[in-house]
Amino acid sequence: MIRYSKILGTGGYLPDEVRTNEHISETVDTSDSWIFERTGIKSRRIAAPHESAASMAETAARQTLEAANCDPNDIDLIIVATGTPEYVYPSTACLLQHRLGIKNAAAFDIQAACSGSIYALSIVDQFIKSGAAKKALVVGTEICSRIVDWTDRGTCILFGDGAGALLLGASDEAGVLSTHIHADGEFEDLLYCRNLQTATLETQEEAGFINMRGNEVFKVAVNTLGRIVDETLEANNMAQEEIDWLVPHQANIRIIMATAKKLKMSMDQVVVTLENQGNTSSASVLLAFNEAVRDGRIKRGQVVLLEAFGAGFTWGSALIKY
Ligand code: ACO
Repeated sequence: MIRYSKILGTGGYLPDEVRTNEHISETVDTSDSWIFERTGIKSRRIAAPHESAASMAETAARQTLEAANCDPNDIDLIIVATGTPEYVYPSTACLLQHRLGIKNAAAFDIQAACSGSIYALSIVDQFIKSGAAKKALVVGTEICSRIVDWTDRGTCILFGDGAGALLLGASDEAGVLSTHIHADGEFEDLLYCRNLQTATLETQEEAGFINMRGNEVFKVAVNTLGRIVDETLEANNMAQEEIDWLVPHQANIRIIMATAKKLKMSMDQVVVTLENQGNTSSASVLLAFNEAVRDGRIKRGQVVLLEAFGAGFTWGSALIKY
C-alpha cells in the first residue's frame, strides 16, 4: 500500500560566476563587513547570459535522475517552482520536460516566491499519496540576478542564482511525514516584483525588479517561521529533540539562527549555504538539502525539517524521514 512519498534522489546546479560582496561594493554604497554582519552572505553565483531557469533546472534534474537511477520516462509529474521564468508561457516545467525528453507527464509551474519548493513538495506529496502519480520531479530554479535592481543596496546584496531538485516516488516506507503551506496576501507592499509585461505607464518604472521593505519582512519572517515550526511538530506529535536536521530557506543568517533557537537546535544541525550562494529564492531549500545529502551530513532514516518564507507572504514546512 502506498502511504508515503519518499525522496529517491537529489540534485543541484550553481552557475560559475562568483560575485563577491567586494564586487558589489564597487558599484553601490555598501561593504563586505556590513553585508556579512547583517545577512551572513559573502558571495553569490550569477548565471551567464546563455543560461535560463530551464537550463539550470535541466542540469539539477539530470543529476537527480542519475542519483536515483531513474529513467526519465518513468516520471509522471513535473512541478517547477520559479519566480524568474523565461516565458509567461509555456511554463518552465514544460520546457524542462522537453529538455529531459519526457513525453506525456503532467508539467506545470507554481509561483510562491521563496516558499515555492515547499509548495511544490506539498503538491507532489498529495499526488503521490492519492495514487495520482508514482514518480514526480520537484525543481526550484531562479535567475534572481535578472530581477534585481543592481543600484538598490537594500536588495542587490541578498540574491543569487541556481537550481535544486528532488525526485519523489511512492513508497510504503516513511518518507514525507507532513507538509504545511500557508499564505497571507495582506503584505503585498512589503515584498513584490511587478510584472514588466502587464505594467502600466504609472507602474513601469519599478516593474521587473524586486522591491522590498527588508526590515519589516524580517520581523514577519521570524515570527511566522516560529509558528510553522510549532505547527509541524504538533501535527506529528514530535518533540524538538527528534529532529536531526533543519534545512531552512536561506534568506538571512539571523532569521535562520532565530528558527534554530526556537527548535533548541545547535547550528551544527542546521544546513547553511547562504554564505556563498545568497538567497536563491525557490531553489535555496533544495540546494541546501542536496548539498547536505551529497556531503554525507543528512543520512537515510534521519528526520529533517524543511521550511521557507517568501513574498505573498507565503510560508511552509515539510517534515521528512529521509
Ligand atoms: N549597505 C549598507 N547600508 C545599508 C545597506 C547596504 N547594503 N542596505 C541598507 N542599508 C542601510 C539602510 O539604508 C539603513 O540606513 P538608515 O538607518 O540610515 O536609514 C540601515 O542600513 C538599516 O537598514 P535596515 O533595512 O533596517 O537593515 P536590516 O538590518 O533590516 O538589514 C536586510 C536589511 C539584510 C535586507 C534584512 O532586513 C533582511 O534580511 N530582511 C529579510 C529579507 C527576507 O527574508 N526576504 C524574504 C525572502 S525573499 C523573497 O521571497 C523573494
